Amino acid sequence: MQIKEVANRLNTTTRTIRFYEEKGLIFPRKDTENDYRLFTEEDLIRLSTILALREIGIPVTEIKGILEKTDMNVKQYLDIQRSALYEKWMEMRDMIETIDVMVEKTTDGEFPKDFYTLAQHLKNLKTIRKKWEDRWNFDEQASYYDESLKKSGFSFNVHEGYDQALMQVVEHTKLQPGDICLDVGIGTGNLGVKFLDKGIHVIGVDQSEKMLEMCKEKHKQIETRKGHFLALPILDQSVEAVVTSYALHHLPDDEKLLALKEMVRVLKPNGQICIADLMFRDREHREAVISNYRNEGNHIAIDVIEDEYYADRSLLVDWLTNHGFHVESRQLNPILGLIYAELTS
Ligand SMILES: C[S@@+](CC[C@H](N)C(=O)[O-])C[C@H]1O[C@@H](n2cnc3c(N)ncnc32)[C@H](O)[C@@H]1O
Repeated sequence: MQIKEVANRLNTTTRTIRFYEEKGLIFPRKDTENDYRLFTEEDLIRLSTILALREIGIPVTEIKGILEKTDMNVKQYLDIQRSALYEKWMEMRDMIETIDVMVEKTTDGEFPKDFYTLAQHLKNLKTIRKKWEDRWNFDEQASYYDESLKKSGFSFNVHEGYDQALMQVVEHTKLQPGDICLDVGIGTGNLGVKFLDKGIHVIGVDQSEKMLEMCKEKHKQIETRKGHFLALPILDQSVEAVVTSYALHHLPDDEKLLALKEMVRVLKPNGQICIADLMFRDREHREAVISNYRNEGNHIAIDVIEDEYYADRSLLVDWLTNHGFHVESRQLNPILGLIYAELTS
């Protein structure tokens, strides 16, 4: 296809297309005889992704990072567009919610006293949503993640009790065939598949494309979506349950509460949340466990714990209780906990 036809099809201009070529975002082949650019279907989907990302204000330099891989398939390009749109949508919702609060506080046309605090809160939310980065390189881990679960003999094994924890999530979450279960941070699909086997429709969200690829390779029927705990690529009130295992501890505590808020957004009335993850009962428990490892001279354990964000279970339980959930929770071992929460209102 030639550049004019591409411009017509995508409702853009040939000048815009050339601009993205100059910026190194697209690489159409050139006809050796007349030097015309020739665009394939793959070029078209890549270009339409660039246009969609620009449309929601993502700068060209950032798009270059997002589209670093050049051999993506249509589904992957669409996944990128969907996840970026949800992020933008979350941003807009935060803004609308904050403005609603401001309007409410503007009694008799007076300037709300905490105007600047609210504006700052909004800025903070935006920064939090944007700043998360994958320090653990899950794309690289995807190829050996399942194998790493089987290893034993470490002086500290974060996956001690892994199978039991996943089983507990399945036993607690009461779902019927045909219900939708969202598994956030699905990784290679080890939890999701347990629901799939019960006839439940599983949507797996993960920020790592490679993890999603691996999950799809193992379990074709799991619907995979690229996305983030803080901007789930799911419509409001559309799933019966949200489950997650060994993923939430990659978010600091304040972000974990935002992640819970996101889970609540996508839950249907009477929905359920079940979390199996690395966590302590509360701050005192954390100190006691760390102090034990210190006494045993197990510095590896302390380093590993401090490199991530093991949850304070009491904070999550309090948040869920205050947001209308009936909550059950317990420790499965000193570093592993389970939270099951059911919406009662
Ligand atoms: C340790 S693996 C656990 C995978 C799987 N849930 C399991 O139990 O085996 C953590 C997974 O969470 C994903 N993850 C971590 N932080 C995330 C975030 N902020 N948003 C979405 N996924 C995230 C990672 O990409 C990775 O696939």
